[in-house]
Order: sequence, then C-alpha cells, then structure tokens
Amino acid sequence: MMKDAAPKTIYLEDYTPFGYVVESVHLTFHLAPTATRVVSRIAFAPNPDATDGTFLLHGEDLTLIRARIDGEEITPDLTEDGLRCAVPDTPFIWEAEVEISPQTNTALEGLYMSNGMYCTQCEAEGFRKITYYPDRPDVMSIFTVRIEGEEKVKLSNGNPVGSGAGWAEWHDPWPKPAYLFALVAGDLVNHPDRFTTMSGKDVDLNIWVRPGDEDKCAFGMEALKKSMTWDEEVYGREYDLNIFNIVAVDDFNMGAMENKGLNVFNSSCVLASPETSTDSNFERIEAIIAHEYFHNWTGNRITCRDWFQLCLKEGLTVFRDSQFTADMRSEPVKRISDVIDLRARQFPEDQGPLSHPVRPESFQEINNFYTATIYEKGAEVIGMLKTLVGDDAYSRALDLYFDRHDGQACTIEDWLAVFEDATGRDLAQFKLWYSQSGTPRVAVSEDWTDGVYTLTFKQHTPPTPGQDVKDPKVIPIAVGLLNPNGDEVVPTRVLEMTQAEQSFAFDGLASKPVPSILRGFSAPIVVDREVSREERAFLLAHDTDAFNRWEANRNLARDCLVAMIRDGAGPDNAWLDGLERVIRDDSLDPAFRALMLSLPTQSEMAQVLFDLFTVPDPDAIWQASEDLRGHMAVAWQGFLPDLRATVAVDAPYAPDADQAGKRSLGSALLALQTRLDGGAAAQAQYGAADNMTLQLSALSQLISAGKGDAAVKAFEDQWHHDRLVMDKWFGLQVGMAKPDVAVDVAQRLVQHPAFDMGNPNRFRAVMGGFAMNHAGFHRKDGEGYAFLADWLIALDDRNPQTTARMCSVFQTWKRYDTNRQGLIRAQLERIKAKPKLSRDTDEMVSRILG
Ligand code: PHE
Ligand code: ZN
Repeated sequence: MMKDAAPKTIYLEDYTPFGYVVESVHLTFHLAPTATRVVSRIAFAPNPDATDGTFLLHGEDLTLIRARIDGEEITPDLTEDGLRCAVPDTPFIWEAEVEISPQTNTALEGLYMSNGMYCTQCEAEGFRKITYYPDRPDVMSIFTVRIEGEEKVKLSNGNPVGSGAGWAEWHDPWPKPAYLFALVAGDLVNHPDRFTTMSGKDVDLNIWVRPGDEDKCAFGMEALKKSMTWDEEVYGREYDLNIFNIVAVDDFNMGAMENKGLNVFNSSCVLASPETSTDSNFERIEAIIAHEYFHNWTGNRITCRDWFQLCLKEGLTVFRDSQFTADMRSEPVKRISDVIDLRARQFPEDQGPLSHPVRPESFQEINNFYTATIYEKGAEVIGMLKTLVGDDAYSRALDLYFDRHDGQACTIEDWLAVFEDATGRDLAQFKLWYSQSGTPRVAVSEDWTDGVYTLTFKQHTPPTPGQDVKDPKVIPIAVGLLNPNGDEVVPTRVLEMTQAEQSFAFDGLASKPVPSILRGFSAPIVVDREVSREERAFLLAHDTDAFNRWEANRNLARDCLVAMIRDGAGPDNAWLDGLERVIRDDSLDPAFRALMLSLPTQSEMAQVLFDLFTVPDPDAIWQASEDLRGHMAVAWQGFLPDLRATVAVDAPYAPDADQAGKRSLGSALLALQTRLDGGAAAQAQYGAADNMTLQLSALSQLISAGKGDAAVKAFEDQWHHDRLVMDKWFGLQVGMAKPDVAVDVAQRLVQHPAFDMGNPNRFRAVMGGFAMNHAGFHRKDGEGYAFLADWLIALDDRNPQTTARMCSVFQTWKRYDTNRQGLIRAQLERIKAKPKLSRDTDEMVSRILG
C-alpha cells in the first residue's frame, strides 16, 4: 500500500479470531520467471470460536485467474488488501488460480528470484503475495505442495512424498501458519549429512547452495548437528521431520528464516571457509544456524497468535541461542559481547523516537518491528525471568510451556502463565517489562553505619513516545561485596527491586565493603552512580565477576574520553596502568583481554556526552579516540610486539573460541602497533595471512594508517569473484576511512561496477559501513546525511523493507547540535516527500521525525 492511501494503524486490542479454520491446503506451483501460476485448493470450515464471519483472504500483487467455491466459479470483490466474498456457513472448498512474477519481485518478499533460483520469504506477511489466503499466524494448517518446473532441485516444507520428471511433491504433517511456508527451486547442489535423534529417528540433513559453494558448508553442518544435540540435552526438544533442509540465498533482506523443515539463509549467514570468513563470521553463523533451528520448537511448534506477540518466539529464541553460544564458547565473553551489542543497538532505539515496548501495542508495517527491542531486549527479559525464578523453575516452566501449548498460536499471557503455574509466583508486575518501553535508570547510593552496609536504589524510566509516566518495575540486581583487600565477602546475591525506591542491608561485615553492582548485567538498565576512579580501578583489579570487571574498565575508558573531549585533559595513566596489568595477565582468556582493550565506540561516546548534558561533537570524539589510542601505543610500546607474539597461533586455522580469542587480542594489539610502525607489522601480517581473519585485520590497519591503497587493490584482485568477501571490502573502506574523506570514499564505492543496490548485503555493506563511520557520516556540512538520503530514496521503490531498516541510522539525531539536527531534519523531510514512498519507509521516517 502506498502512502497516497492514509496509512493504517493496527492495534493489539482489536484482535479477533478469524471466522474460519483451514483444514488443509494444497498448492500447485507452475514455475515461470514472469508468469508463475499458483493453484490453491483450501478446505475451510466455520470457526466455532469466532464471532465475525467476514471471509477476507489477504492478497497483494496477485492476478486472479479464477476462483471457485465448492466447484462453482465465483467473482469475488477485489480490494487493495485482498478479496472478499460470500461463503457457505458449512465447510467448503476454496479453489483459486493466480499469476505472479517472481522475476520482477525486487522487494524480496513472497516468491522471488535470486541469481536464477526461485525462493520465498513469507514472514511476516509475504504469503499474501503468493496466493489469496488468511495470512495471519493464528490460522494454522497442514500443507501439501506440488512444484512443477524444470529446475533440478525443488524443495518445500515437511517431508518429500514424491517426485518425477518436472515435478516434486512435499507434505508437511505439522500444522503451521502461512508465514512458515517456503519453496525453493533451482540448480542447486547439496552438502548432505545425517542425524540420529534422541529417540533413534534418522534425519537427513542438507545444506543447499549454488554450484561452487559446496566447500563452504561443512562448518554450518557441524553447527546444525551441535544445535540439534544441544536442544535435546538442554530443553528436551527433538526434531520432528525426516528431513531438514537449509538453503543459502544471495539476495535476502534479513539474516535467515525458520520455515518449517526448510530454513532459508542469507548466504552470508551460512557459507563459511577459513579463507573467506572471519572468526566473527564463524561465530555468527553458528549462532544463526542454532537460532533458526531452535525456532522449530519456539516459533513453529508453538507460534504467535498475532504479530504483536513477536517477542514470544524471537526473544525466547535469541535467549536460547545465547545460551547455546555460551555453552559452545566462553560464557563471560558471550555475555560481554551481548551487552556491547545491546547498548549499541537497543539502547539508542529505546532512548529515542523509535522506542517501543517489547510487546508493541500498535504498528503500521510489521516489518518495521523486527527490532533490537523485540529480539535483544526480549531475550534480556527472559534472562531476568530465569534469574528471578531460578534455573529449576525455569526448566519446569519451559516443560509446561511445550506440553501445554504445542500446536498452538500463543500470547505473552500464555507464556507468563506457565511461569506463574510452575512457580506460584504473581508476575503481574514483571509483565510491565513487556508493556513499558524505555530503558530504566537506577540511581544507587550507599550507607555504612554501625557495621551495617546499605544499598539504596531509585528507579526511573524516562518518558518514551506514547508513554509519559511509568510504573516501577521488578528489577533483579545481582550484587556482590568485596572487602578492601579485594576478597569477596558477600558472593553474588540477587536483590529483587520492586519499588520506586528500595534499600537492602548487609550486616556482619568487618569493614565498609566495595560493592559490585549489576553483576553479569542482570537487567537491561542504566546504573547511575558516582564512583571514584579509585573504586573503579579496584574493581578492574579484583572483581570476581568477569562482566563487572569489564564494566569497570569500560567506565574508566568512558570517563577518560569524556575528560579528554570536554575538559581537554590528558589520558588517565592510572587507568592505563590497571588495564596494562589485565592485558598482560596470561592467565586470562585472550578473548576477554581483547574485549578489555576495545574502546567505547564513537557513537557510544556521543550518547555518554549527551547524558552528561554536553552536546557531542563527532570530530572531537574522533580526535580524542585517536589521541587515546596513540597514547596507549606509545605507553605500551615496550611490550606490544612480545605480547602479540604470545598470542600468535601456530596450529592450522580452526574457527574455535580458543584460536579466535588469540586472534582477536592479536588484532587489537596490531591496531596499536600500527600507530608506532606506520603499518610495517600490518603489511607483514597481510602478506603472510592464510585466513580471512588475519587478512582483514591487517587490511583494516593498513587503511587506517593511510597505507592501504596497494592492499585494497590486491584484495580486490584476489577476491573480485566472491560476493561475500567483496562485501567486506566495500564495508571496510568506507568504515575505516578518515572522517573528512568518508563521503568521498562512499561516493567512489557506489560508482564501482560491483556495487549493486538490489543486493541487500552490498547495499548494507556500503551504507551501514558509512553510517558506522561516526564522524564521517556526521560531517558538519551535512554531505553525509544527503548522500545516505539519496540512496534511501533510490532504493525505496525497489526494496521498502531494507530501505526502512536503514533509516534507523537517523534515530539518534536529537543528540547532536542544532545545526546538524536541522540538516538531518531536512533530509528526513526530503525522504518523506518522495512520491509513492513505501508504507515501511513512511512509518520509520515519520516516527523518527516525531
Ligand atoms: N524470523 C527470522 C528470524 O529471526 C527473521 C526474519 C524476519 C527473516 C522477517 C525474514 C523476514 O529468525
Ligand atoms: Zn528468530
């Protein structure tokens, strides 16, 4: 729907069940690039639980060829959103034939073509672009699919039931909503394997790719088998079909999709090889394969009643994949990385114009709600629930959830009820985490009187769009106490805050302790507490909680940068001495030490300054970050090369946590060393690299040292044939460019013959990389904003979903000076004025403008 029609808002409170149940669905596809015919035969019956008997089938961009009810030709009313007609009040058979054009479907939603291959994306509301159907998740049915076409491989959901020359048939015995439907057809090759489930059933596993990519499937396959085992062991969940297929697709709007038995992946989230993928790529691929696989139970077997309940499947599945990664790799490193990510993506969302509850109450375009809040904050909320009820109760509640709701389309109320029933706890107040948006801020004060130590917390959630006043929430605050010698005197204890202001007392202590607050980041909040540098340094040295040790360091780094930016101070040498001890402590995990060495991002510093009522100046932030890194390099020059040598990996490349941790510390150290040697070490590493992790970290240092030209060229010569590697090449150049030339670099890259705005990965590599170049994007004259707006306007007709998501780079605009705000506003208004702006982009830009 285009904006000429008034945008329509959908409300949670308006939910009503559909008037009909769907007993079965038979689909036949006659594939042809611009004229695919889809024949549907659907058994409907009146829904005894419904009050409204309107027969509305969703449909978009369909050409109706014919429609029949119980064999009789009918002429339905066609509207913009679908079709309506009179139907019998007894069970009936609906038949329709429609024509669609996958080849010209550039939105990548519904049935489309990518590199000559047919594929589908139906979540959230893409099935309506395939045929007329009640395209809502609470309508579940059993699908049988016949695919006719000359393609070598023809796949759909469920189990294969037959195939012959030019056809294949699939039957999925598990009732599912239409958003989990999938079809893939093309000249694909597979990487096969098998898995035996805990009850002894054999499952065929396949990863399907374009010929040439076969050698990039092994890692994903191992990740899949690990995920299957883990879900059996930890959640007692077994796989439920004879076959599990994964397909890699080059043009995909998101990361991957959990279609029943036929997961479709953005090729960047499944294809991996040491030569072409970095350690972070490997870790991310393992996590996404797990995520999509885990959806088979949390999402597919138990699905969402409506899209307002999206966090029911996404928050839970992200929580499950984080647990999985923590088990496969390092728990503290995973936790710290997740918090870095939450603060970088979810906090700005929750503290700006796009703030919305974990369970939203209204939307215009559901595609705009696949957000960090639904996913990552949704997972944090589950983590808090688990902390509050304890591990055993969590397991019991989950067992009850699977028992009670298997085969159903559920709500957050159903989810919380299993916890209430399993524990006897009243979760009414906890539920506010689902309905109230915004990041709570908790102020902490302490008192030490007569041997009693008291912590007092005050919570406050700032107003967010549509929610001026907030009620106090339940906040689990994990706290430990250390004595002045650095020994832990009170081990981690979870304080359950339920009031606006609340005190917790500790007695029996010999001396005033040093508190370690919000251990493990036990709640997604901001802690406001005046802490001396000495106390932070003490925690950096002694805290037994790895997260808070990292956090103490992060706060010291922030304070140091603030003093440099705002007060013109020099770097904090006392902090750097403490940090030096940590990074040289070889009893600590190199991955953890690498995290300690990474500085707050420039965007994070902009928010820190804004919170201190200082207007952030992107150039000053960039300069201070540079100065601090330069200072670290000089201060540590005596040991940098040796320390880097201690983490060099001799063994053949493996993407495991151990080697990856060493390489990530090595690359953080290389970044410092490059400031001393002008790129000599980076050049040597580039020349010797036999894996993408080392090659790319060397390249990025060469670029940042201004010595990258030859390597950039060599890299392109070496990798021009590999799309995924070239995405890195595009992203790195614009991301690492000096701020004053970032716009020019971006402009040059979009002229490159390999720039293709129709490919979401390539578009995001350049535009996302550019927006991450904080000072470059926020160039004073507004050229960065104008450049990005030009491209958003250019992409909107083709691919509204990717355009709308990219608009969120403007969400933090109110942090900056009035001049920059004016420049950004002008660009947002220019986008909004584009003729036929998509509903997706229109909603995003309107909300950002506020
Ligand atoms: N449901 C997918 C996932 O999280 C994400 C997705 C949403 C993909 C919408 C495509 C479209 O796992
Ligand atoms: Zn998901």
